[in-house]
Amino acid sequence: MDLYENNWLFDLVHNDKAGEAQINFYRRQIERFGEPVLELGCGSGNYLVALSQNLHNIAGLDLSEEMLEAAEKKADAEGVSTDLHVGDMRNFEIDQKFKLIFIAGNSFQHLLTLDDARSCLDSVRRHLFPFGRLIIEIFNPSLPLLCRPSDKRHFIGEYRTDQGWVVVTENVFYEAATQINHIDWHYKNQYMKEEQTVSFKMRQFFPQEFDALLGANGFRIDSKFGDFDESAFDSRSPKQIVVVSPA
Ligand SMILES: C[S@@+](CC[C@H](N)C(=O)[O-])C[C@H]1O[C@@H](n2cnc3c(N)ncnc32)[C@H](O)[C@@H]1O
Repeated sequence: MDLYENNWLFDLVHNDKAGEAQINFYRRQIERFGEPVLELGCGSGNYLVALSQNLHNIAGLDLSEEMLEAAEKKADAEGVSTDLHVGDMRNFEIDQKFKLIFIAGNSFQHLLTLDDARSCLDSVRRHLFPFGRLIIEIFNPSLPLLCRPSDKRHFIGEYRTDQGWVVVTENVFYEAATQINHIDWHYKNQYMKEEQTVSFKMRQFFPQEFDALLGANGFRIDSKFGDFDESAFDSRSPKQIVVVSPA
């Protein structure tokens, strides 16, 4: 089963919304670089809906219709309007250019090959004004987390739902040759006999590789942060957050 056909599970583990630090970070960038704005891989709208509460000109694109339906429901509940597109960030066409395009919440790590990443960057360039900016937010790969034994279960959390408590655990298998982390999330609520499993893959982009990829595909790095407080990226940073412009 695919994680993004089970948007409720994604939202359960991610607490149904993006944190304040994340939202404030993107608010500051939108104030800096302007609208219109596009979020690629917007999923169930955790960033998009929160940001739309102050802004009018923010569009979202995602591959998963289920995730977009969830985004629409959240937007309706909050009374904000949305401009959502079903599409693939590796090759999309929206009849508009943007001052800011961002890819939040590690969505870029679902691009599993360098060719996928390159074609996404090409599509982004076609949709940016010459003075526009792209922001990509991904993990700083953690070797201890990636190298956990694949046959061991790791506890993610226990969550209260309308159907009782749900326990979520994971197995990971990191394939070093492709840099792809294969992740299985297992979940079971107190009334289910069998547990269910959803699977997804996340490619790791190592810091120097990531910078070189952007440079080789026509982007200049304006800033590289290690967290949402805009601290400079270093070895201990949990995230790689780049602000880049067309070179
Ligand atoms: C980790 S979720 C992040 C969602 C949202 N940005 C957030 O942080 O709440 C990743 C999202 O990327 C979407 N996605 C994966 N590959 C994609 C692609 N090639 N094009 C567009 N969306 C994609 C998935 O459907 C999913 O909704």
